[in-house]
Amino acid sequence: MKVDIGTHTPLYPAPDLIVGTYDSNGKANAMAAAWGGVCASTPPTVAVSVRKERHTYHAIEERKAFTVNIPSERFVAEADLFGTISGCDNDKFALTGLTATRGTCVDAPTVEEFPISMECRLVQTVEIGSHVQFIGEVVACLVDESCLDPQGRPDPDMVKPIIFMPGYGRYYGLGQEIGRAYSIGRNLLKGKEE
Ligand SMILES: Cc1cc2nc3c(=O)[nH]c(=O)nc-3n(C[C@H](O)[C@H](O)[C@H](O)COP(=O)(O)O)c2cc1C
Repeated sequence: MKVDIGTHTPLYPAPDLIVGTYDSNGKANAMAAAWGGVCASTPPTVAVSVRKERHTYHAIEERKAFTVNIPSERFVAEADLFGTISGCDNDKFALTGLTATRGTCVDAPTVEEFPISMECRLVQTVEIGSHVQFIGEVVACLVDESCLDPQGRPDPDMVKPIIFMPGYGRYYGLGQEIGRAYSIGRNLLKGKEE
């Protein structure tokens, strides 16, 4: 039996995205965003939802650019700090000891030590309610070469992304592989196909 717990959004798991921007003074900043994900494959687009009170909100509005960085497990404390204090009155890169590197294609910094950085050009802004959704076209996707598999794809076991459980306030690492996509489901058809 299921119980209706109300109007919640426990969309488990959520990503731990670190959004990089330059503020109006040119200072590099980054914040954590769990409200985000892929919008489309073509054009390659991702979205992050940001409250208007965030320093990052004003930076994206002004520069029309941001980066989406994927931290590895070993940077969980740094990633959490990016989501705990504001860049309005703090230099989060100095405090974490991480490196802001100017984007190759957009006016926003990447987090050098994180294995994946997507450089995004703002293409749409959607006012929703508590958050404003920024949709960015990915114009470059930089990946630490030590995290690439032989086919040139980012290997999740090397990237070791952080998983966030919203409403629960906990970070997790990746679990075990439990099946192959577009394949394991076909096992259910065995003996039933014409
Ligand atoms: C794991 C995690 C996820 C978060 N997700 C979001 C989010 O999706 N949108 C948002 O506006 N704030 C989110 N926050 C809060 C901001 O990251 C936080 O307020 C941050 O200090 C804002 O930084 P800024 O003022 O430098 O932009 C999240 C915080 C954490 C720790």
